[in-house]
Amino acid sequence: MDFENLLAQRTRKMGASAIREILKVVSLPGVISLAGGIPAPESFPMEIISELTARVIDKYASTAFQYDLTEGFTPLRKALAEHLQKKGIHATPDDVIVTTGSQGLLEAIGKILISRGDRVAVEAPTYLGAIQAFNSYEPDYIRLDMDDDGLIPDSLEEVLQTGGVKFVYIVPTFQNPSGRTTTLERREKIAEIIRKYNALLVEDDPYSDLRYRGKPLQAIQTLIPENVVYTSTFSKIFAPGLRIGFCVAPALIKKWLVLAKQGIDLHTSTFNQALAAEYLSGGYLERHLPKILSLYKPRQEAMLEAMDKYFPSSFKWSKPEGGMFIWAEGPRGLDMECVYVKSVERKAAFVPGKFFFAHSGDGLETMRLNYTMTNEENIDRAIEIISGVIKEDLC
Ligand SMILES: Cc1ncc(COP(=O)(O)O)c(C=O)c1O
Repeated sequence: MDFENLLAQRTRKMGASAIREILKVVSLPGVISLAGGIPAPESFPMEIISELTARVIDKYASTAFQYDLTEGFTPLRKALAEHLQKKGIHATPDDVIVTTGSQGLLEAIGKILISRGDRVAVEAPTYLGAIQAFNSYEPDYIRLDMDDDGLIPDSLEEVLQTGGVKFVYIVPTFQNPSGRTTTLERREKIAEIIRKYNALLVEDDPYSDLRYRGKPLQAIQTLIPENVVYTSTFSKIFAPGLRIGFCVAPALIKKWLVLAKQGIDLHTSTFNQALAAEYLSGGYLERHLPKILSLYKPRQEAMLEAMDKYFPSSFKWSKPEGGMFIWAEGPRGLDMECVYVKSVERKAAFVPGKFFFAHSGDGLETMRLNYTMTNEENIDRAIEIISGVIKEDLC
């Protein structure tokens, strides 16, 4: 039976994720993968999880396994309000919504805000998962330019001046895919512009806690809370499989997000929320985060050193102070997908950057390199292999 004719018109817009196809190839034995975008399994606090599992059962008993509020498990929302307070984000427990990963929030945002043909402004490049979440609601994407200092405020202003932008979606800290961070000066300008045009900003912040150097920067939400949906997640600081994200949003948006979430999943797993609540309120995050940082920092340094050692001078790349990714840009005309194919033949993989652009034809000469999933030695070897393909002028 072919049910193709049954699919909704919008379903065709969803498309398969090209990256998933790439990840299938790179998980083959012997391939060193710098392609993934996921945390290292050895960063998960397994002993803590086992301790907290017992504690949650003891403390919350059957409540941890019951249906719960759509907004989220009350002890977790309380713990999150305190956690956010430390970052300068003033929220009461009532202001917080727990979502099934940040991805759950992105889906709900698409659902409540985007009608077919609506204009949504996204960075070039941007997070592919956001594009996937929004695509089923059929928006038109408007490109926001970036450079090494993050989103370029003038580009935002030009876009907002044209009017009719539903919302602006950005990842200002250690962006996926580029690793770039929008500077404080730019954050202030961006806040001014968003306020001036009374626009809505979705600030996606999964990586700011993964900082290996330098000082933390305040979220744009702290500058213009009435205009920002701020979202973050436990995926990079606890365990992604728990699927716990959270957000704070302006009151009206919050109300509709909760209604949309009711339709999507009723609520996020109560048990997993209880684990996250104890992880935060019991001080486990504070104790465990340094271990995650000490795992990733040398891996990032190994990658930057290897790139200095092997990459040709025609390349430039980001040098982030944290996060999980480095973004490299080759000379115009270089076909990075070809470099990818030839590198995989030699057992090293990355993701060609073109997949992270909302508009096809952009970013053909770019690449995303991840350093969280393998050790320093493998990182050096993979960068040497990829550089070899580039230097031999095969593409
Ligand atoms: C920028 C960005 N936003 C959201 C997510 C989704 O995270 P979650 O696991 O919380 O759904 C990711 C995960 O890689 C990400 O990189």
